[in-house]
Amino acid sequence: MVKIKVENLVKIFGDNYKKAKEMFDKGIPKEEILKKTGHTVGVGGVSFKVYEGETLVVMGLSGSGKSTLLRLINRLIEPTSGRIYVDGDDITGMSQKSLLNLRRKKFGMVFQKFAIFPHRTVIQNVEYGLEIQGILPEQRRKKSEEALELVGLKEWGDKYPKHLSGGMQQRVGLARALAIDPDILLMDEAFSALDPLIRREMQDELIDIQSRMKKTIIFITHDLDEAIKLGDRIILMKDGVVVQEGTSEEILTNPSDEYVEKFIEHVDMSKVLTAQAIMKSAETVGFLKDGPRTILRKIQEAGISSIFVVDNQHKIQGIVEAEDAASIIKKGEKDIKSIISRNIKTISPEMPLNDLLPMMVDTKYPVAVVNDEKRLLGVIVRGSIIAGLAKRGVE
Ligand SMILES: Nc1ncnc2c1ncn2[C@@H]1O[C@H](COP(=O)(O)OP(=O)(O)O)[C@@H](O)[C@H]1O
Ligand SMILES: [Mg+2]
Repeated sequence: MVKIKVENLVKIFGDNYKKAKEMFDKGIPKEEILKKTGHTVGVGGVSFKVYEGETLVVMGLSGSGKSTLLRLINRLIEPTSGRIYVDGDDITGMSQKSLLNLRRKKFGMVFQKFAIFPHRTVIQNVEYGLEIQGILPEQRRKKSEEALELVGLKEWGDKYPKHLSGGMQQRVGLARALAIDPDILLMDEAFSALDPLIRREMQDELIDIQSRMKKTIIFITHDLDEAIKLGDRIILMKDGVVVQEGTSEEILTNPSDEYVEKFIEHVDMSKVLTAQAIMKSAETVGFLKDGPRTILRKIQEAGISSIFVVDNQHKIQGIVEAEDAASIIKKGEKDIKSIISRNIKTISPEMPLNDLLPMMVDTKYPVAVVNDEKRLLGVIVRGSIIAGLAKRGVE
C-alpha cells in the first residue's frame, strides 16, 4: 500500500519566485536560474512513492535538496508546485488546522540536532509532543515511559539531558518522536553527528524498533553504508532531482551515472554484494539418471572438473568429480549414485559475500546456491567472486 506519494514536487526559495519558476519550467539549469534571479531551486521536480512499513532512504551530497524535500513532506515549508499525498489525501491543499493536526499525529520527526530542552528531564522531553497534542498528564507519562523503554532508556527518565551522552540524547529524540505513535517517521541525518560506534548501535536499534513497530520511515543520510543498512529502497538526489531509485543491490550493481558511481566507489562491496549477484548460472548439471559417460562428457565440454547433480525437479543431490566418473567407466559401472559426493556446501542467494568468502577458503568444490526447496539456482566458484569484485573496481 502506498503511504506517501510525491508528485512532481518543486521548491524554489525566494519571495519572487515566479520568474525563476518560469525559467525552471523551460528547463533552464539551476545555476543559471540562481545567477539570473537570485533564487535557489531546492527541489526541482521530484516524484516517488513510499510504501507502508518500508524504510525509504534519501541519499545525496550536501545541498542536494534532501532536507528541503523532508520539510516539504511534512509541510513545514510550502511547495512552489507539485502534490503530496498521505494515505491518499492531498495534503498540499489542506487547511492550516488539519495540517497542524496531521503533522502532530501522523509525522514524527528526528533531526541531527533536535531541540532537547536542557531544563526538562528526559521524560519531560519525551512528553513534549504529547503535551502539544493536549494529551492528559497521566496518559502522557505512560506513553512516554513506553517510548523510553523502546529506545533502551527506561531508567533515565528523571535525569537531565546534561547527564546523557550524545547517543543517549539522540535516543531521547527518537523516543519523543515515537511517543506520539506516528505512522510516519521522518529522520533527517538523525545519526550523522554520532561517533561511528554509537552510530552503528543506533542503526541496529532502529532496525530492531522498526521490525516491531513497522512504521513508514523516510531516512535521510549522505552516508551510503548507512543507506544500505537501513533502506528497503534508496533514492539518490543530486541538485534537487532524483538521479536514481532502487534497492541498494540495484544501485550498486547498476549505477545510473557517474555521480552514483562516485558515491558507491568507497563502499565495501563484500558487505553488500550477495551470492545472487555473483553466482554463475548452473547451465551444466548432471541428472541422477545420467550414466558416467554422459557425466564425463558434460564435464569435459564445460571445461570444469566436477559437476553438480540434481534430480528431475532440479533439487540438488551432490557433486561428481571427473576422475571418479572416469574410474567407474573403467570398471564398467553404469550408475553414478556410488560416486555422488554429498559433502557440498549450499547457501541461499541472499548470503552476503562477507560470509561467503570464509566458506570458499575451506571447500574444494564450488558452492551451490539453492532456494528454500533446495533447487539449484547457481554456482559460485572462487574465480567468480574475484571477477564479481573486479568488475566493480574493488580489490
Ligand atoms: N531557507 C532556504 N532559503 C534559501 N535557500 C535554501 C533554503 N534552504 C535550503 N536552501 C538551498 O536549497 C538547496 C538544498 O538544500 P537542502 O535541502 O538543505 O540540502 P541537503 O539537505 O541535501 O543538504 C541548497 O542549495 C540550499 O542552499
Ligand atoms: Mg540536510
